[in-house]
Amino acid sequence: MRHINSKTGLFCVIGDPIEHSLSPIMHNSVFEKLNLNYVYLAFKIKKEELEDAVKAFRILAHGFNVTIPHKVSIINYLDEISKEAELIGAVNTVKVYKNKLIGYNTDGIGAIKALEEKTSIEGKKIVIAGAGGASRAIVFQLALRDCEITLVNRTYKKAVYLAKEVDEKLNKKIKTEELSKLKEIIKNADIFINTTSVGMYPNTNETLLLAEDIPEKIVVMDIVYNPLKTRLLKEAEKAGAKTIDGLGMFVYQGAEALRIWLGIEPPVDVMRNAVLKALVGS
Ligand code: ATR
Repeated sequence: MRHINSKTGLFCVIGDPIEHSLSPIMHNSVFEKLNLNYVYLAFKIKKEELEDAVKAFRILAHGFNVTIPHKVSIINYLDEISKEAELIGAVNTVKVYKNKLIGYNTDGIGAIKALEEKTSIEGKKIVIAGAGGASRAIVFQLALRDCEITLVNRTYKKAVYLAKEVDEKLNKKIKTEELSKLKEIIKNADIFINTTSVGMYPNTNETLLLAEDIPEKIVVMDIVYNPLKTRLLKEAEKAGAKTIDGLGMFVYQGAEALRIWLGIEPPVDVMRNAVLKALVGS
C-alpha cells in the first residue's frame, strides 16, 4: 500500500463529465507497481473554469490529461505544443516542465501501437469511420505513414474538411465516401477502424457493419472500450476477421503520457489489467 505524504506529486485528468474516467485507476496502478510517490486524480472542470484550473495546475501538478470538452480549447492556455498536437489541433496530455506547460497528443500514437500489435500498416488500405476528435488524432498519425486512407462519416462534409486539412498540412491525399458506401468499400480494405461512438454503452446493439458485410481477411479495430467487445467486434469475429478492441488504444495513450511526464517505460500489462478489472467490475 502506497502512503501519501508531503512529497507526493500530483497528476490528474480534467474533463466534464469525468466520473466514469478509468485514467485514475490505470495511472495509479503504475505508481503503485513502480513505487513512485505520485497520485493521479480526476477533476470535473467546466468550460468556464478551464483557465483558472490550468493556472492552478501550473503550480500544483507535474502533468495532466485533458478530455472532452477541453481537448481543443486547452491550447489557448499552453506555452508550447508538440508537432503532433499541432497537426491534430487537440491536446490530451500536458507536461508541466520548468514552469512551462507543454501540450502533446498521444491518442493517435496509442491507436497505432494497438493496431501494430496485430497487423502492419505499411502499404495497407485503411477505412476509417468517423471524423470527430478521436478520428482526427488517428487520421493525422496514419497520414504520416505509407498507407491508403478512406474516410467515411455520417456528416459527409466533416470527412471532406478533414481530408482537405490533411492534404494542406501533410500533402497527403485521403479519399472520402458517404457512410452509406461503407459496405461496398470495405470489401476492398485491409483494415477498418471505427472511431464513431456507434455501439458505445448504452447503445450496445448498434453497429456500422454486420458479419455478412465483413470480409474474412480484414482487421477490424473499434476504439470504443465500453463495452470491450462491441457489437461490431462480435460481428467481425463471426465473419472470421481479426479484431482489436478499444482497450489497447486507451492503455497505450496512457503509457505514452507516462513516458512524456516521467521518462519511464510503463508496465503496460499492469495498466491493462487494472482497466480490465474496473471494466468487468462496473
Ligand atoms: P470523439 O471525440 O470521441 O471522436 P466526436 O468528436 O463527438 O467524439 O465524434 C463522434 C463521431 O461519431 C462523429 O464522426 C459522429 O458523426 P457526425 O460527424 O455525423 O456527428 C459519429 N457518430 C456518432 N453517432 C453516430 C451514429 N449514430 N451513426 C454514425 N456516426 C455517428
